[in-house]
Amino acid sequence: MLTPKGRGSLSETAFQAMRSTSPDYSPLLSTPADDAEDLHVTLWALHELHYRGFEDVDDDREWQPELIALRRSLEATFERTLRDRAPDAWPEGDFADAFFAYVASHDGASLAAQVQRHTTHEQTLELLRMRSIYHLKESDPSAWLVPRLPDRTKAALMELQFDEYGGGDPTRLHATLFARGMDDCGLRDEYGAYIDDVPLEVLEENNAMSLFGLNRRLRGASLGHLAAFEATSSIPSRRMAQGLRRLGLPDSMAEYYDEHVAADAVHEQLAVRTICGSLLDEEPALRDDMFLGAFTCLDLEDRFARRMLEGWAA
Ligand SMILES: [Fe+2]
Ligand SMILES: [Fe+2]
Repeated sequence: MLTPKGRGSLSETAFQAMRSTSPDYSPLLSTPADDAEDLHVTLWALHELHYRGFEDVDDDREWQPELIALRRSLEATFERTLRDRAPDAWPEGDFADAFFAYVASHDGASLAAQVQRHTTHEQTLELLRMRSIYHLKESDPSAWLVPRLPDRTKAALMELQFDEYGGGDPTRLHATLFARGMDDCGLRDEYGAYIDDVPLEVLEENNAMSLFGLNRRLRGASLGHLAAFEATSSIPSRRMAQGLRRLGLPDSMAEYYDEHVAADAVHEQLAVRTICGSLLDEEPALRDDMFLGAFTCLDLEDRFARRMLEGWAA
């Protein structure tokens, strides 16, 4: 993957410094982002240095102090935004009961319901391109958590990750299943291929997962996000699979979603009760951040869904 296209002053300055063999980092911290999209494409690329990096950026830049300083500054801005968007208080009582009730009471727009019955062929492919930014590195943001957790939580997270990474079969990683579906649909299946096409909302969704995963301090938010993600996946996956078959798209794409109908019905229980539950037994103070992570997952998906539905309606 190459560095994305700049979307404003900050991203253009940052990507130029990342690519340069003799970079001048001095303008980085004094260049404000033009807007949220400029900020988030920059942050997405800075996070990416910790995943697979870019062909046009030296691997050593992952720990370049000026780039780390910029990342921290953008993350602080984003974290403030996420905390400002969240409600002031969270549900009380037994964690699992309160968590499932909270997720069930969230009444957001559903892209899957739209795909199930209404979207055109082209709209559906557009959605798959947007989703590819995450699904082609599915579960990677949660993998950062592993060495940061106590034993029971770590074991339970690895049970979930084992499924996400194909149960030991390199042809069955969820990211690999998605890539196969993309290719069969005539779409590009390379990691990050569509980054220049995605709107702010997709960048925010991906950046939130990396922010939570890469900062040990935010481990509660990361696991709360994971739990909400798993708890809102099974039924929408069934709808997606039905919609893809309604449109006659290749079965391999529907099979990615079939896989999640069954898997995520198990994963939601594992994530809420065992992963979050065991961590809360040891660190009850993380409860609020778990709800913050869950809220963020639902809220950002809602923003993305509304953006897509408005575009399709127009
Ligand atoms: Fe998955
Ligand atoms: Fe899952």
